[in-house]
Amino acid sequence: MNLVGIIFVLIAVGRFSEAKYEGHQVWRIIPATYQHVEWLGELERTRGEEFDFWTPVLKRVNHPVDIMVRPDLQSLLRTLLQHRGLGFHVMIDDVGKLVSSQMSELSERRENGRLSGTALSGFDYNVYHTYEEIMQWVDDIATEYSHIVESFLLGYSSEGRPIKGIKIRGTGSHDANPRAVWFEGGIHAREWVSPATVMGFTQKLLDEYDNGDNLVVEMFDNLDWYIIPSLNVDGYSYTWSSDRMWRKTRSLNAESPCIGTDPNRNWPYEWGGVGASTWECSDTYRGARPVSEIEVSNAIDFMRKKKADGQDFIVFIDFHSYSQVIIAPWSYLDSDPRTEDYNDQMALALEMQSAIKDTHDVVYNYGAGAEILYACSGVTSDWGYGTYSQHGGNTDGGLGAKYSYTVELRDEGQHGFLLPEDQIQPSYEEMHAAVRALGAHVLNEMSATVQ
Ligand code: ARG
Ligand code: ZN
Repeated sequence: MNLVGIIFVLIAVGRFSEAKYEGHQVWRIIPATYQHVEWLGELERTRGEEFDFWTPVLKRVNHPVDIMVRPDLQSLLRTLLQHRGLGFHVMIDDVGKLVSSQMSELSERRENGRLSGTALSGFDYNVYHTYEEIMQWVDDIATEYSHIVESFLLGYSSEGRPIKGIKIRGTGSHDANPRAVWFEGGIHAREWVSPATVMGFTQKLLDEYDNGDNLVVEMFDNLDWYIIPSLNVDGYSYTWSSDRMWRKTRSLNAESPCIGTDPNRNWPYEWGGVGASTWECSDTYRGARPVSEIEVSNAIDFMRKKKADGQDFIVFIDFHSYSQVIIAPWSYLDSDPRTEDYNDQMALALEMQSAIKDTHDVVYNYGAGAEILYACSGVTSDWGYGTYSQHGGNTDGGLGAKYSYTVELRDEGQHGFLLPEDQIQPSYEEMHAAVRALGAHVLNEMSATVQ
């Protein structure tokens, strides 16, 4: 980063409104009965503006619900919970303190110049990076690995920021249109570990390719890999400059002073159903119409173009945090969410789960949409799996990738979105293992069907 960049970051981090979350706590509530579940669901529906649900209420007992509670609402919520016989414990004692200590660590590091050289050789994978640094990483990695990597411009965000990605194709690739993989990070702004993890495992794979690792050579020679480390670049920048807990895009809404749409409720496959809000101020606002968000349309147009040119996608993964789950479609169905490919999707999820577990002994769960989490519509991975349709209108057809998942990375709520930097490396190490397992599975399946 140049001097202007450094100064910009210092100013941006410096005027960060940490005070915003002063005294806010995150409480974990574990509903023990269905009455508890019902009541929490009601609280989320009716008072979701005041009580910030970091995790939504599942229709299941014993599944934790994390709520960020403002100081002035803590005694009220305590009383309400007591009345229902619901216990809770404090997961994060002071969100404001945690945010400001993490943000001042970031700006101190920059003052000390530890990050001043962002040339790839000096790139530190174990810290969080600004939007500018992530885009620089894209350019640098394409230069460093120019024999197999090229960078591309996916398009521009609503605030005009370039969204860049990389394409990997091995030198031994023969097919003009090999099957493809789509990895996307950072669709939700505050989930910082997502871009960090995507960059970390990508680098490890590239390194392995150059070292002649048999599996990775096969993976890159037989598949094209499209990787977008940060899709919601405006939201991400905003979490650095102004509000660490921002989730949505930063587009303006015509009918409301509230800003942003949830880009993971904006995809056109089964848009506008359950678990997506019609209210502009909600964190799960679905948008004025399917694909209203330019970041989403950039991604969809790119993949549709590949499809139209004869390239099929076999894998589509959208990386989020937190809760450590691998979620297969359908997300939009409240009940019976299993797809026709459920068994195969679960078989691969199990292989990824064991690869992850073998790395740092961390457990990821897996399952289909509402069976493992909650139902919500207009999400990435439903579009990723949905049957492709050439007509390609905004409500019509998906990508047709059999192995389409949403992956929720670390942790289980101990730090939630404020995951400390010392967990970045273990996170990308375990995901790296998962991606290798995925590569092996897909290659195996492809060679079985080719014969
Ligand atoms: N955390 C993601 C979101 O709320 C998960 C969506 C994936 N699908 C699901 N059924 N929960 O946007
Ligand atoms: Zn998310």
